[in-house]
Amino acid sequence: SYNGLNLVPQMGWDDWNAFGCNVNETLLFSTAQTLVSTGLRDLGYKYVILDDCWSSGRNSSGYLEEDREKFPRGLAPLISDIHALGLKFGIYSSAGIFTCGRYPGSLDHEEKDAALWASWGVDYVKYDNCFNQGRSGTPEISFKRYEAMSKALNATGRSVVYAICNWGNDDPFDWAYTISNSWRMSGDIYDSFNRPDSRCPCDEAIGCRWPGFHCSVMNILNKMAAIQARSMSGAFNDMDMLEVGNGGQDDNEYVTHFSMWALLSSPLLLGTNLATLSPANLAILSNPAVIALNQDPSAGAAIRKWRYLVADKDANGQGEISLWTRVMDNGDTVVALVNAGNAARSMNATLADIFLDQSTGGTYRPAEELATNWEVWDLWGGRMAEAEARAVIESGPSVSANSTMRYNASAVG
Ligand code: GLA
Repeated sequence: SYNGLNLVPQMGWDDWNAFGCNVNETLLFSTAQTLVSTGLRDLGYKYVILDDCWSSGRNSSGYLEEDREKFPRGLAPLISDIHALGLKFGIYSSAGIFTCGRYPGSLDHEEKDAALWASWGVDYVKYDNCFNQGRSGTPEISFKRYEAMSKALNATGRSVVYAICNWGNDDPFDWAYTISNSWRMSGDIYDSFNRPDSRCPCDEAIGCRWPGFHCSVMNILNKMAAIQARSMSGAFNDMDMLEVGNGGQDDNEYVTHFSMWALLSSPLLLGTNLATLSPANLAILSNPAVIALNQDPSAGAAIRKWRYLVADKDANGQGEISLWTRVMDNGDTVVALVNAGNAARSMNATLADIFLDQSTGGTYRPAEELATNWEVWDLWGGRMAEAEARAVIESGPSVSANSTMRYNASAVG
C-alpha cells in the first residue's frame, strides 16, 4: 500500500447510485444511523461517502464551500457526528475543472482542497475524471493529474484513503497502485445484470477493458477477468458501487453481483437507500462469509478458469456461464459458478478446473488437495456432505443457478 492504508478493500455506502445529486445532511446522517442499527457498520461498512453535488463554489480565498441549503451547518459538524457513530467519512471531487455534475473541480486546486478536507476530518477521497481539460490520453498524462491530489493528501498528514475514479482510462491498473488505494476499472455501473448497452463497449478479444457507461454486472465482471491480477493489498481494482437493493435485478442476480464483487476484491460500497432496503436484500449484503472473502488478508482476486457462451440467448441479452476460483490466505479454495444464462442449468467443474494453478505452469496446487476428506461449504446455504460435493465436481449433476460454494481442501490426518 502506498500510504499504509486500505490493506483490504474499503467498505461503506455512497449516495450516488440511489440519490444522484439529491444529497443533504439529513440523508447522510440518517444513513449513518441506519448503518449502525442494521449491523452493517459492525460487518465492516464504515465509510459514509458524499458523492457529487455538495459544493456551492469557491470563495474569494480559493477554498471550496459547502452548499448551505443541503448542509446548513457545513460539513465539519456533520463529519464529527458521523465519526461519533464509529464511522468514517468520504468526499468527492474531480481531477478536472468541474465535477461530472458540473460543480467545481479540484484540478490545479489540489493543495487547498486537500487541506480543507483534512481540516474537516475527511477520511476518504473519491476523485473523478470529468472536465479534465484534455489532460488524459496517455498513462503519463493521467498519472500526473492524479498524482497531484495524492501528494496533496499526503502533505496534510491525515490518513486519507484515496480512490481514483477514472473509469479504466489510460490503464490505471499499470500505475495507480503507486499513488492510490483503488481505481475504477470500468465505466459507470447501472442496475442491470446482463442487459447489453452499446454505451458500455466491450471487446472480449482485447480483454474487454474500454471505458463506457451503463455497464452491467456481467460487462464489469468480464472486464475484470483480464486485469484481476493487478489487484493487491492496499490497491484494488474498483468494480464500482453496488446496485443491490435498487430493484433492477432479481435476488439471485444480486447474490451473484455481491458474491463476485467480494471474490474479486472490489471495494464493497453500498449504493442503495438503506431506509427502504428489503430484509432479503439486507441479508445479501450482510452475509458474513461472503464479506470475509472480500476482507481476506490475501487481498487477491479470483481467476476466471473458463467462460462459455451458451445457446439460450433471450431477448434480454447473451447467455454465458463461467467458473472462478480463488485461493484464500488459509489455503482454502473458493469456487464460484456464475450462471448468466436465462434458466437454471447444470454446470460441470472438474478437479483440474478447480485446483490447477495456472500461475505455476499447470501443476496441481498442492497435490494433497486432491485427497479425500474435504470440508465443503455453500456460502449461501450450509454445509454440503462430501459425497454430494464430489458428485457435483466429478460428474457434474445439477448445480442451481448462481450458486457459490467454498471448498475447504484441508486433508484430515
Ligand atoms: C461519474 C462517476 C460516478 C459518480 C458521478 C457523479 O460518473 O463515475 O461514480 O461519481 O460521476 O457525477
